[in-house]
Amino acid sequence: MSNQRQEAPDRNLALELVRVTEAAAMAAGRWLGKGQRKSGDQAAVEAMRLFFRTIDIDGTVIIGEGEKDKAPMLYNGERVGSGQGPAVDVAVDPVEGTNLLALGRPNAIAVVGLAPTGSMVDPGPSYYMQKLAVPAAAADVIDLDAPVAENLKRTARALEKDVEDLVVFVLDKPRHQELIARIRQAGARIQLHTDGDVAGALMAVDPHSEVDIMMGTGGTPEGVLAACAIRSIGGQMLARIDPQSDLERSNVIEAGIDLKQILSIETLVSSNNTFFAATGLSGGTFLRGVEYSGKGATTHSLVMRGRSGTVRYIRSTHCFEKLSQYSSVAYG
Ligand code: FBP
Repeated sequence: MSNQRQEAPDRNLALELVRVTEAAAMAAGRWLGKGQRKSGDQAAVEAMRLFFRTIDIDGTVIIGEGEKDKAPMLYNGERVGSGQGPAVDVAVDPVEGTNLLALGRPNAIAVVGLAPTGSMVDPGPSYYMQKLAVPAAAADVIDLDAPVAENLKRTARALEKDVEDLVVFVLDKPRHQELIARIRQAGARIQLHTDGDVAGALMAVDPHSEVDIMMGTGGTPEGVLAACAIRSIGGQMLARIDPQSDLERSNVIEAGIDLKQILSIETLVSSNNTFFAATGLSGGTFLRGVEYSGKGATTHSLVMRGRSGTVRYIRSTHCFEKLSQYSSVAYG
């Protein structure tokens, strides 16, 4: 037996955060496949914002919907929570995969991450980063500077697989033509997704998912959000700021960001005291979508805490008649 002094179990904020992502998913899920990107996003943002008020945190949005003037709610710098309780950095994406939701494609999610104040990397003017995510067994063998085939070979060996067995998650974007050709040349299999690389990264680090590795360039905010979760599940994601336009490049350089620096999840979120919740919106292999029953809805969420490493899958049933008696969120 250890004679170290043990702390009493404390609050797991992720269990409160899941109400925020559930509310966003139920509000936005009505817009599945309706072709209206803004409406789904707006519904999710409004629901999320209302539910944040119920949580005793003193939160500042670091990864939000954008700068204040472009996004009226959940903008970068906005204070969220009751103002009581721990001071935290907040990363939100009310609809991660707005196109996926609008077009009725899989793996749109509502997602929130928290970490102690000052521990999340502020993406500043950077929109894109190159990412390479793998399960814990391959965490120490990947190298962002190594050729694609080499990373595939090393990952396959670490996972006790052949390269031909691997499934690589890649965003289906013109910028990835060469990457896709190299993966094919190496012999690995590919899942191409138009959007949604938070789900992609989390499937890659999960040894039980059908994806083994994620490669390619996606959003910087999505990278920080994924890092909050990887702090719990384990695994590794290496990243490097990868501007996609001349303007982004010059803004990033002006902000003093080093384009050569390789960022690990420990740099993206420097504390392991992270909290993460995601609720499925459109369904798919990552999380089931919102199922409406006429009287209510069922939601499926992933809830995690970095410090304990606890990962929970929560299936919740919601009764709209009861909720409507006291909640101002319109779910019906
Ligand atoms: P949204 O949440 O803004 O809809 O982002 C979806 C997404 O596909 C992310 O998952 C990904 O990181 C990013 O967009 C990629 O950006 P782009 O579509 O501009 O290549």
